[in-house]
Amino acid sequence: MKIKNICCIGAGYVGGPTMAVIAQKCPEINVTVVDINEKRIEAWNDKDVENIPVYEPGLSKVIAETRDRNLFFSTDIDSAIDKADMVFISVNTPTKTYGIGKGMAADLKYIELCARQIARVSKSDKIVVEKSTLPVRTAEALKNILDNTGNGVNYQILSNPEFLAEGTAVEDLLNPDRVLIGGDVESPQGKEAMQALVDVYAHWVDKSRILTTSVWSSELSKLTANAFLAQRVSSINAMSELCEKTGADVNEVAKAVGMDSRIGPKFLKASVGFGGSCFQKDILNLVYIAKSFGLNEVADYWEQVIIINDHQKRRFAANVVKTLFNTVSGKKIAFLGWAFKKDTNDTRESAAIYVADYLLNEQAEIVIYDPKVKAEQIYADLDYLNSRPCEENRRCVTVANNSYTAGKDAHAILVLTEWDEFKTLNWEKIYNDMLKPAFLFDGRRLLERKIKEKIGFEFYAIGS
Ligand code: NAD
Ligand code: UGA
Repeated sequence: MKIKNICCIGAGYVGGPTMAVIAQKCPEINVTVVDINEKRIEAWNDKDVENIPVYEPGLSKVIAETRDRNLFFSTDIDSAIDKADMVFISVNTPTKTYGIGKGMAADLKYIELCARQIARVSKSDKIVVEKSTLPVRTAEALKNILDNTGNGVNYQILSNPEFLAEGTAVEDLLNPDRVLIGGDVESPQGKEAMQALVDVYAHWVDKSRILTTSVWSSELSKLTANAFLAQRVSSINAMSELCEKTGADVNEVAKAVGMDSRIGPKFLKASVGFGGSCFQKDILNLVYIAKSFGLNEVADYWEQVIIINDHQKRRFAANVVKTLFNTVSGKKIAFLGWAFKKDTNDTRESAAIYVADYLLNEQAEIVIYDPKVKAEQIYADLDYLNSRPCEENRRCVTVANNSYTAGKDAHAILVLTEWDEFKTLNWEKIYNDMLKPAFLFDGRRLLERKIKEKIGFEFYAIGS
């Protein structure tokens, strides 16, 4: 079976880039990305490709090549589903904020809405692909809804979790470590559907890297991969605190440990804490699933990854207060970086948000500069915490348009995102414009201690 029309529901950080690369590599397939968010679709269709809503290195080029050729962005969800042979569901699956499983379980209401819409609209057989990250056995619920509320057409459900990381999305999509496709391996129809999706990826991914498994293994592998990755960050962050107490240096420890080929060097960078929309949400979801099966030891094991991460963010902020003579009240503190990592404009669950909240509770005045994050996003992130009235966030937080303005007259500078441009700033100038003693806290191990101390900074870095 050859796929001619793909519809992707959800034009976010995953749907947009993933479909752009599929469209680029499969010129004979028409790909339509749909969303209920009209503003987002408008931005994807902006004449100036630099204004697309997701910032990712290399993405605007792929969009320029494919948009209106075989890649389309639309709010007409019904007709895109109707036309498609294959429908990807790539909507958000946030942590539940209400009811049973509040604060832990994944909220599947957007997924269910998609399933019901597909069932209502479809007049021909469809392959439905779970692209969103979902609790294991979600495919069962999807199938139930599709089969019982549909128009009698046949559905095959595949799980095809996405492993791209933000900031390197295009590169990760072009050269994935693996593509995972879970399906009904027992039936000929299931196998045919899996093959159809394998054929899409085989346009550019070597077959040896395309794995096919059962749906349940595929769904659970995604949660497992994120849990393992986050666990490495929490492991090295736990060691960073011990390094600070003992005179060891976490970068040296990470290097020594990572050269063991069984451990490997990647994902061992100590930081102010991991952020992003997924690690925390997916681990909480895993913890919830384990608990729901009565596997309390398994749940506790993974929950510790989150506990260390929360601790790391809090202790970084507490150290700022302690170092600034136990008070930051009325003091100007400059933040360099707000995004959860470099090369993205995404701020979801960024450690910077929690550090800011902690310092605002201590009555600090914060000035923030991030090369890709807009002021409205920063205020929205702070308001979302509900820690204080929105007006107070606007009164105590200002947004600067470069690092120099942010640092002027500041008591302290905090490096919270590892943007490359922070490495090459004129740090002498920044030092001269700050109040003295000039404190510099490196939450990302981005800067050279010796050079900064020579300039005159009182320098603190995670894990040394
Ligand atoms: P996102 O919030 O950026 O995008 C989701 C989009 O879905 C939104 O634009 C929203 O308006 C739209 N949407 C929600 N319900 C809809 C509906 N019923 N009909 C049409 N559109 C609807 O989310 P994201 O970051 O792209 O993540 C999507 C999924 O992919 C999540 O499950 C996430 O865990 C997973 N994932 C994310 C990443 C990542 O790097 N962000 C990586 C791998 C997997
Ligand atoms: C992560 C995974 O890497 C992807 O494979 C996965 O698809 C994605 O989650 C998802 O499911 O959403 P992402 O969150 O975009 O990708 O970015 P990462 O590079 O994993 O970084 C996550 C956080 O950990 C960032 O805040 C980063 O700064 C931090 N981190 C990462 C560290 O502090 N140290 C490290 O060594 C690595």
